[in-house]
Amino acid sequence: MFLALLLALAVPSLSHGTGKCGSEEVAFDNPNPQAAFLASVPSPPLEIVPLVVSGPSSNRVDLVFFSDGYLAEERDKFIEDASRLADDVSNNQTFHTVKPLMNFWAAFTPSKESGVGVGGTPKDTVFGLYRDGTELRGVYYAKPEVAAAACESLGMQCDYPILMGNDPLYGGLGGRFTVITPSTANGALVLRHELGHSIINVGEEYDGGFGYFGPNAYTNLSEPIPWSHWLSEPSHARVERSVMPMQDYPWSLLNTSVPWTVTFESSGAYARHVVRFSLSGVPQGADLRVDLDGADLGWVPRPNIGVDRWHYDVHRNGGLSAGTHTLSFTLLNAARQPAAQICNAEILEFGDESEFVSTPGH
Ligand SMILES: *[C@@H]1O[C@H](CO)[C@@H](O)[C@H](O)[C@H]1NC(C)=O
Ligand SMILES: *[C@@H]1O[C@H](CO)[C@@H](O)[C@H](O)[C@H]1NC(C)=O
Ligand SMILES: *[C@@H]1O[C@H](CO)[C@@H](O)[C@H](O)[C@H]1NC(C)=O
Repeated sequence: MFLALLLALAVPSLSHGTGKCGSEEVAFDNPNPQAAFLASVPSPPLEIVPLVVSGPSSNRVDLVFFSDGYLAEERDKFIEDASRLADDVSNNQTFHTVKPLMNFWAAFTPSKESGVGVGGTPKDTVFGLYRDGTELRGVYYAKPEVAAAACESLGMQCDYPILMGNDPLYGGLGGRFTVITPSTANGALVLRHELGHSIINVGEEYDGGFGYFGPNAYTNLSEPIPWSHWLSEPSHARVERSVMPMQDYPWSLLNTSVPWTVTFESSGAYARHVVRFSLSGVPQGADLRVDLDGADLGWVPRPNIGVDRWHYDVHRNGGLSAGTHTLSFTLLNAARQPAAQICNAEILEFGDESEFVSTPGH
């Protein structure tokens, strides 16, 4: 939802979804929730709780968190989770400047089972949220008609429905219904990202996916830059020198017998590089070693990440030599085997500072 070219350097990529084009994608089935089909089923009972309210729904943009996989006795947890996320996106940069135009509500319905489904099978919950496998990626919904009915029953109080699955780990989906989890590490990040798809129809923020389009993308240099009005000096805009020689989304479980490795070719023509990857199920630095051409990259997990997913960028000065290189992930702790996963890995190479300005603000 920002400038994709710059974001690629600044912020870890994320996302997930239905498109399986080698990367993580998002469902663009119908990005405009207001065009949702008419509800064919009755709405579930909803307890509406105001979270951040700035004025009457008749002239505000209303975002509603709907509960999925929260039992009756988990009602307070749902309100706390929704409240934390509403505060985060409305107090921080994303929606802060438009906060006076927005309302955030929580709509609670108890589910019969707690949590979200895995392996493609929903639990007995209000909207039937589930993961495809166990990997921390897309979270899908089995009951769009129930979600449509719930949102419609609120009339103008529901412009953008957000289905929140009661699971502490990374996951989400954009589209007609924004889907998130209340992961403390990733929930707000995923919510921002998915609302970008849902509200203003921006494409992905990372390289390699089919969804690289929208108001933040610039793909034809013969055309004017669509976001030049955001630039302080539009006439100074130029293409920065960088290349991505490798990107892989293995979603592979790690074991202590054989490291997971990927090889790639570098042209040897760049001054700097970044090793980018995301992992889940590896809470300790001693659990895993990440090497590039046999050199330990000194990976340390984000503090308190537990088994949740997190994206890492290892910036390295100095160019890669021309020829073949090997990136490897060696699991050191056998006790992590059932859950330790390499989600994705990527190499980016950059020119020197005269060819690729890396200072904040660019
Ligand atoms: C977002 O805002 C909340 C307060 O509402 C704060 O606790 C949190 O650290 C902020 N997050 C970021 C990434 O700035
Ligand atoms: C790029 O834009 C130019 C100018 O509008 C147009 O003529 C050309 O067809 C475009 N190229 C592609 C590949 O879309
Ligand atoms: C261990 O991991 C390697 C690398 O991902 C894989 O090729 C191999 O099949 C795995 N072995 C087992 C027993 O899962």
